[in-house]
Amino acid sequence: EKEGYDHFMLKEIHEQPKGLYETLNRRIEEDGSIKLDGINMTKEDIENFNKVFIVACGTAYHAGLVGKFAIESLAKIPVEIDVASEFRYRDPFVDDKTLFIAISQSGETLDTLAALREAKRKGARILSVVNVVGSSVARESDDVFYTWAGPEIAVASTKAYTTQLMCMYLIGLYMGRKKEVISDEKYNQYMSELQDIPDKLTELLKSESSIHDLAKELYKKEQVFFIGRGADAGVSYEGSLKLKEISYINSFAIAAGELKHGTIALIEKDTLVIALATQDKLYEKMLSNIQEVKARGAYVIGIAKEGNKEIEKQADRVIYIPDCMDEVSPLLSVVPLQILAYYIAKERGCDIDKPKNLAKSVTVE
Ligand code: M6R
Repeated sequence: EKEGYDHFMLKEIHEQPKGLYETLNRRIEEDGSIKLDGINMTKEDIENFNKVFIVACGTAYHAGLVGKFAIESLAKIPVEIDVASEFRYRDPFVDDKTLFIAISQSGETLDTLAALREAKRKGARILSVVNVVGSSVARESDDVFYTWAGPEIAVASTKAYTTQLMCMYLIGLYMGRKKEVISDEKYNQYMSELQDIPDKLTELLKSESSIHDLAKELYKKEQVFFIGRGADAGVSYEGSLKLKEISYINSFAIAAGELKHGTIALIEKDTLVIALATQDKLYEKMLSNIQEVKARGAYVIGIAKEGNKEIEKQADRVIYIPDCMDEVSPLLSVVPLQILAYYIAKERGCDIDKPKNLAKSVTVE
């Protein structure tokens, strides 16, 4: 069932263009409008919300970090986000004007389910973004929006994450449209950018062998830092989690501007830093963060959009992703990080699909 791939993880990485295509195109009507099957909110319901609360764990939480950006800017509504194990024990401000969004691949994560029940008890409307049809999270929600990733077998989540991101953009666009706070121009631009993603991803997957070569150079590192700004910061967290969970390398992600407030103390000669610099409006800022770590001897792998070549002057190596609008770049920029994590773990001889101490779905507290 691995269809010729050595591991489910690699197979699932390659299934992303298809998963994204399905997740998007099943929701577009002939006239270009979005139809969110499973979501039965009226315009009044949407206008009644004064806040969105996104709650999830692990990789799904990281999808939520990007979702916060997307929903705030598209639907013009404040979005709070929390990990489920914190949310459920801290008496958060949630009431009948809250739209609570639970994100979960399995739909069986106990903390996420408990957080959902707590939000429901407080009167929130529950929308879940779930991959497994009919799972507990799906059953207990008012509205369910499915990711069309197909079954995800590898413990390390890949295609669930990118399809969750796609859902977050669609929810933001849908709400923004209903509230009439998004212009036709912006809507159309987003939709065409999202529709281009599956092909761009197929293109990007062709850099697999060069990323493999890079992994052969890097696999002995025992410490890695991921840095980024804006949407790239969210992707940094995901890249770091991916690497640590399957390769057991001590990796750490931080918003790049925070480095100088402490963490930069750990950067020394040959420390590996993976710097995401895909946001045009933050590009110059990222270049100066790269300079800061270079000045302390770091070895820097940059991730940038094709055409943004200035980074080559500072980073030791650069992986390019296809050009796209800043807002949707997480759909692409995470992929080289998934591939890098995969090949580093492989070079280290790790059991990639079943990393130690981890289970596919965490149904205990
Ligand atoms: O099934 P869920 O999406 O609720 O799972 C949440 C996390 O346990 C999960 O994303 C975990 O972090 C993955 N192993 C990450 O690759």
